Amino acid sequence: MTTSVRPKRVLAICYSQTGQLARIAEQILAPLRENPGVDVHLEMLRPLPAYPFPWSFFRFFDAFPEAAHLIPPKLEPLALTGEEDFDLVMLFYQVWFLAPSLPVTAFLQHPLAARLLNDKPVVTVIACRNMWLMAHEKMKNLLAGLGARLIDNVVLSDRGNVFATFITTPRWFLTGKQAGFLGCPPAGIAADEILRARRFGLAIQTALVADAEKKNAPLLTGLQAVEANPKLYFSEKAGTRSFYLWGKLLCAAGEPGQWRRKPIIFFYVIFLVLLIVTVVPVSLALQTLIRPLLREQLARMKHDFELPSGSGAERMSNYVV
Ligand SMILES: Cc1cc2nc3c(=O)[nH]c(=O)nc-3n(C[C@H](O)[C@H](O)[C@H](O)COP(=O)(O)O)c2cc1C
Repeated sequence: MTTSVRPKRVLAICYSQTGQLARIAEQILAPLRENPGVDVHLEMLRPLPAYPFPWSFFRFFDAFPEAAHLIPPKLEPLALTGEEDFDLVMLFYQVWFLAPSLPVTAFLQHPLAARLLNDKPVVTVIACRNMWLMAHEKMKNLLAGLGARLIDNVVLSDRGNVFATFITTPRWFLTGKQAGFLGCPPAGIAADEILRARRFGLAIQTALVADAEKKNAPLLTGLQAVEANPKLYFSEKAGTRSFYLWGKLLCAAGEPGQWRRKPIIFFYVIFLVLLIVTVVPVSLALQTLIRPLLREQLARMKHDFELPSGSGAERMSNYVV
């Protein structure tokens, strides 16, 4: 007599404005979908009202107070009931103003999230410009509050360096133009890196077949899942603090979209540009000067921020894609 083994059930949560994160999710989920032993439920989040793309100047900056304070927007009804029992949850998210993007924040505060994620192993996949450290700290707290177990974190970031992306990324969001500009590479994550993300799906599929998701240990070690740049931590700390404080003022001034917020946003953007052109280079220069003193601390921070999956490459040859 043959016993029928029930398929492994994977819940994937995703929101994507330009389609970039959706393409990454598709690459990673493809090997799981191709395996008849795995059922994938992909829930695409739809905020109400939808965020525009490209953004207008004010609408873009008007989103930071709520992002910094994790104040959720409304979501269109989910296709989930909360009664489902998933073996693994994959949370695809982008960073907005050094915090998880608002649609994903909204999902994590949705009444169904606690039922769906409690005691479940969770794999997070971040796609962002390159500043994700503080957002991930917030994500870890949100997941812990839901009783979820973070077993892996994958990070894909833009191909340009910190300074190039300060130009190309806002240009992309405010005009829709993603192509290279002033000698900087195109904004966004390189197409070949998106394709290579398939290796994570292959490894997760192998792990599910072996019941490895039950062991409360990472499934994606040795696959260059994440490369943290702890030198950005100090700039992210300063940025987060400023978003928090100014965000408080803006939230007190009115709801998103209200005219009373506009003059404050205008002054804040001038302040923010000054902050970026001073704090980021000064912080990076200072760190270079005192590098010998900081070496151990930065190495420890890099290691800790890369947990649980790590930056090791020892299994890369098993998953050539
Ligand atoms: C409002 C907004 C704020 C953003 N803030 C950050 C940020 O703080 N750090 C970062 O690395 N990327 C930031 N990004 C880039 C996004 O993380 C992401 O890479 C981009 O929006 C593409 O995602 P998509 O799939 O939703 O199109 C921001 C994007 C938007 C729209």
